[in-house]
Amino acid sequence: MTGLKRPFAEMAGTGRYIPAKVLSNADLEKIVDTTDQWIMERTGIRERHIASEGETIACMGEIACRQVLEATGVSVEEVDGLVVGTASPDRLLPSQACDLQKTLGAVNAAAFDVSAACTSFVYGVSVAEGMIAGGTAKNVLVVGAERLSTITDYNDRGTCILFGDGVGATLVRASSDGKRGILSTYLKSDGRLGDLLYRQSGGANEPPSEKMAKERSYFLRMAGREVFKHAVRSMADACDQALTRAGLTSDQVDLLIPHQANIRIIEATAKHAGMPMDRVYVNIEKYGNTSSASIPIALDECVRSGRVGPGAVVLMVGFGGGFTWGSTVVRW
Ligand SMILES: CC(C)(COP(=O)(O)OP(=O)(O)OC[C@H]1O[C@@H](n2cnc3c(N)ncnc32)[C@H](O)[C@@H]1OP(=O)(O)O)[C@@H](O)C(=O)NCCC(=O)NCCS
Repeated sequence: MTGLKRPFAEMAGTGRYIPAKVLSNADLEKIVDTTDQWIMERTGIRERHIASEGETIACMGEIACRQVLEATGVSVEEVDGLVVGTASPDRLLPSQACDLQKTLGAVNAAAFDVSAACTSFVYGVSVAEGMIAGGTAKNVLVVGAERLSTITDYNDRGTCILFGDGVGATLVRASSDGKRGILSTYLKSDGRLGDLLYRQSGGANEPPSEKMAKERSYFLRMAGREVFKHAVRSMADACDQALTRAGLTSDQVDLLIPHQANIRIIEATAKHAGMPMDRVYVNIEKYGNTSSASIPIALDECVRSGRVGPGAVVLMVGFGGGFTWGSTVVRW
């Protein structure tokens, strides 16, 4: 993006969908050997929402996207880009974005997925910004959407306590006044850390089989302690990079919206950035880790509650499997 004067694109409007069904820590106590106290102390999560049958990502995504369109006054026909970040698509082919395009009726969009695990929303925003800057599109919906309950092993207490379902969305379009908009983006990955958070089977290398079902290798597996360590490191890097690229210091940031993975990771990130917790948005207690949906869900809550209003400078930071990490600074 060098040579282009920022901001040339803005985020406008937000939306979210949270399934009604709740899975509380008390519910999990009945399924695996754990306690509400352990989960709260180690993660900050009290409950998460789980999609019911029929609550597909396409259906949930449609509702979140319609909220974005209503907030911005953009018609569905005017949407010419639809970028979906997800690690738990409704089906493997076609892309989740194409299935959402059909449900939404976004007939004029180029629809495709980005795959960067929990960092997918940040990656999607950066791709959408590039589409705007390059003149490829004018109105790009960026969606983070997960139904992680379908790839979570409820026999594994190390992971099943963490994840929840939900969708968040925003629109990326040309900056309306040349002041509000995306001030910086930063994307990074390290594939050498891929085996810290992965799903072994179900892909082309290990297609579905009886062995897969028996070994439950279709489900997500994670080396929790190692992920934690790298998460703290990469979130710190992502904060530093986004701020440097925006030419800002953390005291010029009104709100930090971190990926909601673990309250201790969030607190470590805030400490590194020098942001007091009253300038950090936390909703992990209600939703757990919704992967690519966590940042846009939080953003929508902030915008709708007035916590983020016109002119507010917001730093969004994420990390996830891959390993991937990334960040963006936005003037709302
Ligand atoms: C998963 C996580 C909460 C585990 O917390 P931790 O403090 O690292 O705990 P450990 O894995 O070291 O396990 C400590 C003990 O608790 C036990 N334990 C694990 N899950 C438990 C649970 N749900 N309830 C009770 N005990 C549990 C372990 O078996 C271990 O017991 P041991 O000491 O007898 O072996 C934490 O590592 C974490 O949040 N990591 C990051 C995960 C993440 O963010 N993933 C998403 C990336 S986008």
